[in-house]
Amino acid sequence: MFDKLDEIKVLRDPIHGYVKIEYKVIWDCLGTKEFQRLRRIKQLGASFMVYHTAEHSRFSHSLGVYELSRQLVFDNQSINDYLSEYEKVCVMLAALLHDLGHGPYSHAFEAIMNTSHEEFTKMIILGNSEINQVLNSYNENLAKDVESIIAKKHKNKVLCQIVSGQLDADRMDYLLRDAYFTGTAYGEFDIARILRTLLVKDNTLCVKESGIHSVEDYIMARYHMYWQVYYHPVARSYEIMMHSLFKCYFNYLSKGNESIFKPFDDFLQGDISLQAHYQMDEATCNYGFKLLAQSSDKVLSDLATRLINRDLFKYSDIKNEHDLIAKRKEITEKGFDDKYYVLHDQANQRPYQPYHGADENFIYILSQDDNLKELSVLSPIVRALLNVEDQNDIKMYYPKS
Ligand code: NI
Repeated sequence: MFDKLDEIKVLRDPIHGYVKIEYKVIWDCLGTKEFQRLRRIKQLGASFMVYHTAEHSRFSHSLGVYELSRQLVFDNQSINDYLSEYEKVCVMLAALLHDLGHGPYSHAFEAIMNTSHEEFTKMIILGNSEINQVLNSYNENLAKDVESIIAKKHKNKVLCQIVSGQLDADRMDYLLRDAYFTGTAYGEFDIARILRTLLVKDNTLCVKESGIHSVEDYIMARYHMYWQVYYHPVARSYEIMMHSLFKCYFNYLSKGNESIFKPFDDFLQGDISLQAHYQMDEATCNYGFKLLAQSSDKVLSDLATRLINRDLFKYSDIKNEHDLIAKRKEITEKGFDDKYYVLHDQANQRPYQPYHGADENFIYILSQDDNLKELSVLSPIVRALLNVEDQNDIKMYYPKS
C-alpha cells in the first residue's frame, strides 16, 4: 500500500546504532521544512546550562522515537501480527511527528505563548503545511489518523500506547538519549529486554512477567532523571529568567515603545499562525536576546545580557510565604524591580502514578497465569515507590548582585 524506497536509508545514531527508513512517506516527511525546523530546537531546553553537552535536538529525538516504534511494529512478533501495514506506517509517522509543535527552549516557551506544543503539532499535521501535503499525497485519511494517534484519540488503543503511553517509544528514547547527552548514567535501562517482552493481549500493550525487572529499572530511571536533569534548578533559573525577559518586553511594547525584534512581537501579541511558529526557533530567540541586550531599557538589557552570558539568578527553597516576602524586600532595597527580579516556580514529580486519571496511566504486566495486572500489584519495588510522599520543590530565584 505504501511505496518503499529503492534502497533502505540508514542513519547512524548513538542510542540505537542505526535508524532505518524503508518507506518513502517517512523519508518524504524528513525533507519537509517543519521537520527540518526541529534541528533548531534543543531536546532539553535550558539543560545545556547545567550539562554542557546536552545540545541534542528534537530532530534526533524524533528519529529515535521513530526507530523504536519501527522496531516494535516489525521486530516484535506479537505487535507485528496484531497490526496491519497501514497501522504500522501510521504508528511510525506518529512517532516521527509527535514533537513537531515544540517551541524554542521547550516548555518554558509554552507558558509565554499561552498555548501548548500539542496544539501546534495538530495544526501542522492537519493544516496548511508541507507535512500535510506529503501525508495527503499518500492517503487522504493519513493526516487525520496520524494526528489522532498523537492526540491519544485513535480507536485502536495499542497504537496510542506505542507512541505515548506509560512505557512508550517517546519516553524510552528521551530517557536514554538525555542520559547519554547529559553524561549521567541514571537514565539507562535494558531497552532490548523491554522491546522483547512487550506484547499485545486483549487489545492492550503489556509486558511479560519475565520482563518486570527491566520495567522496574525504567521506572527508577525516570525518577532519577526528573530530579537530576529535568528539574535541575539551574536550568529552571534560565527558563524562568527568559520568561521574565519576555514579560518585561511585553510590558515595554504595551507602553507604546517601538519594536526591537518583530518575531517576538508577533508571538507576544498572540500570533499563533503556522508561519509565526515556523519562524520561532532557538536561533531566532538567541538573536532576539542580543538585540534586547542593546536596548536602552535597563531591565530588558540587563536580563538579556544575563541570559547570553549565563549570569543566572541564584535560588533557594521557599518554605513559607514569608520567605518570598522577605526576599522581595531585600532585592527591592538593592534597587531591582521585584516584578522581574524575584521569581518563583514549583516542580513536582512522581515516578509512576497508576491510580490518577484513566487506566491509560497503567503499565500492564501479563502474569504467569495469563492475566493482565497493573505493575505495582506484581512489583514490590514499584509498590514501595507509590507510597513515597509527593516531592514538591518550590524555589525562588533572584540576582546575586
Ligand atoms: Ni518526544
